[in-house]
Amino acid sequence: MSATKQAAALTPLDIVERKNGAPLVCLTAYTTPMARLVDRHCDVVLVGDSVGMVLHGLTSTLGVSLEMMIMHGKAVRRGVAHALMVVDMPFGSYEESPEQAFRNASRVMAETGCAAVKLEGGATMAPTIRFLADRGIPVMAHIGLTPQAVNALGGYRVQGRGEDGHRITRDADAAAAAGAFAVVLEKIPEPLARGITTDIDIPTIGIGASAACDGQILVVDDMLGVFTDFRPRFVKRYAELAQEAEIAIANYAREVRERRFPAQTHIFDEALGVDGVETSS
Ligand code: KIV
Repeated sequence: MSATKQAAALTPLDIVERKNGAPLVCLTAYTTPMARLVDRHCDVVLVGDSVGMVLHGLTSTLGVSLEMMIMHGKAVRRGVAHALMVVDMPFGSYEESPEQAFRNASRVMAETGCAAVKLEGGATMAPTIRFLADRGIPVMAHIGLTPQAVNALGGYRVQGRGEDGHRITRDADAAAAAGAFAVVLEKIPEPLARGITTDIDIPTIGIGASAACDGQILVVDDMLGVFTDFRPRFVKRYAELAQEAEIAIANYAREVRERRFPAQTHIFDEALGVDGVETSS
């Protein structure tokens, strides 16, 4: 056994205990290297089904499969040591019945090693959340703008304005009562997010739902400026990595065309060994 004690990974219970405490910091990740970076700074790493749009070029999350989520979940698992790892249930993998949800969620947990799953829906999904939670599957709910319902909602619109706020409040109450350990609130007005956060006893994690929430989440490629196809109002760019990558790729292309790369430091000659170390004889 190692003499150095490793800090244990956060559990859903740790997340619940952060209600009204220090804000929960959450980001998505889809690959091992990004998971390593995110894990150093975040409480929750979400393998979001946004992977379909961000990495696979899909126009919505509807085409994301269980196999895609499991593949990216396995990759992220290798990069996470500290944060709670949550994997999204993709469209069509849980809505039919609690039994279908359990079958697929248990597969996601067993094959990826994640500690919890996320699914979209509140009141409608409450029986499923209860079924999973009672059988050892911690559930993070996702309400407000639920991207898998983009066609039914008529686009990626703000949800819960005016009277419609009651619907979102009912969703939050139902998810909490059914045993969800946290709930993502997406793209809803600030007063509504504040009211829900005050009312329910599990943490709210906002994305376009104001600083009144118990935590925040963003798609990592959005906040790093890697994904630039569109930029929702709720995204703050903390870097412009696509622009930097473009400059680097253009420089490489120019140097190859001008025969300035590779330079002397990148090549091998007769005097060097196979690994680039000079031989003694
Ligand atoms: O799929 C995703 O990345 C998400 C977050 C934006 C909450 O659901």
